[in-house]
Amino acid sequence: MSTTTTTAHPHDSMSALDVERVRAFAQHVAGLLAGGATTAMMVLGDRVGLYAALAGAQRLTPAALAERTGTAERYVREWLAQQTAVGLVLYDAHDGTFSLPPEHAAVLASDDSPAAMIGAAPLVSGMHRRIEELAEAFSTGQGIPWADQDPSTFESTERFFRVGYRNSLVGEWIPALTDTEDKLRSGCRVVDVGCGHGAPLLLLAEAFPNSTFTGYDVHEAGVQVARQRAEEAGVSDRVTFEVADAQAYQDQGVDLLTFFDALHDLGDPVGAATHARRALAEDGRLVLVEPRAADDLATTLATVPMAAMGYAASTFLCTPNALSQPGGLALGSLAGEKRLGEVLTQASFSRVERVAENDFNIVIEATP
Ligand SMILES: C[S@@+](CC[C@H](N)C(=O)[O-])C[C@H]1O[C@@H](n2cnc3c(N)ncnc32)[C@H](O)[C@@H]1O
Repeated sequence: MSTTTTTAHPHDSMSALDVERVRAFAQHVAGLLAGGATTAMMVLGDRVGLYAALAGAQRLTPAALAERTGTAERYVREWLAQQTAVGLVLYDAHDGTFSLPPEHAAVLASDDSPAAMIGAAPLVSGMHRRIEELAEAFSTGQGIPWADQDPSTFESTERFFRVGYRNSLVGEWIPALTDTEDKLRSGCRVVDVGCGHGAPLLLLAEAFPNSTFTGYDVHEAGVQVARQRAEEAGVSDRVTFEVADAQAYQDQGVDLLTFFDALHDLGDPVGAATHARRALAEDGRLVLVEPRAADDLATTLATVPMAAMGYAASTFLCTPNALSQPGGLALGSLAGEKRLGEVLTQASFSRVERVAENDFNIVIEATP
């Protein structure tokens, strides 16, 4: 047995490595850290109204931006420096002013823009606030119900998803469905499962006033918000929101039954799809809106720009919710068309077809 003791030098472990590669990778990691920090700064800028104020002006000094937003100039100066460092805001060193180009404002300054992404930022804050719970879940394998997530998760889901629904739902997705748009116009029965705060159902109710709509969700607080939104939109005469599990509602003869970004969240998606099939009229249609993904990991990584964000959301939100429910299939949020089609075929749907897509979602129609 050797009795020699050696004192390891901290740099010894580096000697066998390609130092240039280490340096490049460290830079990559530094960029990721900056991205995480920037998300927090984006949430802040959104909350305090800094993006909106910058969007409404050509160029502003920190003092002028602080004055417009009723904030403290010293804080605003620091926020602007960081936003400039990551290229969100532009700085003019000649006159010390900052500006948000209109193309950046379209993404950051308002949820009403078709290109808005700022609503997604609080989703990341919500993930940070649930790290301890998820670390525990990694050890135990237990799930975490949607209702136990941070409230910013619910706010962010509504804000960010609504942009895509507003861009595509009424103008592109509904016309792509078989024999559905005319029925909606003349008046039919629509059920939405996993309705959340109700954004897609409210858009449909506004566009098709002769139809009636019911949204179901297990998250009581979310259903209350959805009811409030229906009141605010003046459509409560034709839209109701109820607390019910995906396999518990009693509707029959439904013409259009939708799952907006919700089927993959369920513990038993086959059971939920089977239940939906029974609720549908013979000539009814089931519509699945799901995140855009390929059928295998390598292709998804190569072709889906939102894959990194999608897998994070899936790890923190969708997979834990599915694992908290009976069944525990946990498709994950990037399940892909083939896997989703198998779920619908197992639920005895006769025809399953992708009918539309946009940058973020695919739309699958299933016929009983
Ligand atoms: C990602 S959110 C989508 C919300 C909404 N459809 C939208 O697009 O804005 C998923 C929703 O599914 C709901 N959900 C999860 N499990 C459910 C179940 N077993 N039955 C009904 N809803 C469920 C959650 O409470 C959550 O509101």
